[in-house]
Amino acid sequence: MGGLVTDQLARLCDIAQLDRTDTETYVQVLAASLGPAATRSLALPPPAPTLLSDDHTPVEYSLAFLPGATPALRVLVEPGCESGDLAENGRTGLRAIRAMAERWDFSTAQLDLLEDLFLPDHPAGPFALWCALELRPGGVPGVKVYLNPAANGPDRRAATLREALRRLGHHQAFDALPPADDHPFLALDLGEWAAPRVKVYCTHDRLTAEQAGRYSRLAPAEGRDQAAEFFDAIAGVEEHGSPTRRALTCYSFTDTATGRPSGFTLHMPVRAYVGHDGAARDRTVRMLERYGMDAGALDRALAAVTSRRLADGVGLVAYVALVHQDGRAPRITVYVSAEAYRVQPPRPAAAASPHPLATP
Ligand code: TRP
Repeated sequence: MGGLVTDQLARLCDIAQLDRTDTETYVQVLAASLGPAATRSLALPPPAPTLLSDDHTPVEYSLAFLPGATPALRVLVEPGCESGDLAENGRTGLRAIRAMAERWDFSTAQLDLLEDLFLPDHPAGPFALWCALELRPGGVPGVKVYLNPAANGPDRRAATLREALRRLGHHQAFDALPPADDHPFLALDLGEWAAPRVKVYCTHDRLTAEQAGRYSRLAPAEGRDQAAEFFDAIAGVEEHGSPTRRALTCYSFTDTATGRPSGFTLHMPVRAYVGHDGAARDRTVRMLERYGMDAGALDRALAAVTSRRLADGVGLVAYVALVHQDGRAPRITVYVSAEAYRVQPPRPAAAASPHPLATP
């Protein structure tokens, strides 16, 4: 499996204009973070039924687009995917993060504060720890850690999140969150970031464009219109009328003083809204072009990951997200599946369900 994903990664590094040295570094980092799963035969089933991706590949790529710039490449991985049980999975993940902290000399203090909350001895599902690396020029990635608010049981999700935010000094943050059906992830920026964030993800089973706009309540009114428009474009307003969709929002907090979120992201699982990846690609390209972003890079990225035709499957484009962060131009992030194990067959477009995806 490591061979497949590192080949994909190397081709993506080229699109992100990383040089040979950085590419070699990141290929090794990805292989190392997969541990024994890297050498696992693709003829075997996936190492674990991970929720990280639909076909259980423990790796997913994403490209962060800015207007008029080369997109930045990131990779999400589950370092503990080869561990049979969730507690061991989490410990393996933690060891991987600590090894990265040692190698790139960053502090894990914020993660240490939360360890007992999110990595208890007998964690509940559905995952323990994921790690995302932003693959920057220079060979030192930005590191993000994803933790499971349901670790102490699904009924303790809100309490666990509140306590985590409190420990990090964000006393009012929980109350700033929108109404949600679930809180599937808490994420921490570790390492060198301009403004390290704590992020809380919210699942909305039936989101509308109006709510997407309203929940995006970052200062500029423009941001609301953009979120509502983005929702409609990715949900397929032209084909489906004003749709109601399962989607995620993510609030980021940097400033402990105000309790006000400093960032808002609308994550849309476009794969659940379309019949095949050609349609997902077209909707995404429309939005990239709308913001003056390099849509050509998306096509090159999809071709770097698979040689199949886009119309022959659905799920290669997993999510498309619109990111608003205080004082920065809007970003669009596109999540691309590795499809190491399976391609989901296309389905009749009419079957695209408004409430798809098992809640993680
Ligand atoms: N596969 C999971 C899901 O669909 C988790 C996940 C992977 C995810 N990449 C993501 C969630 C990007 C939000 C955005 O929910």
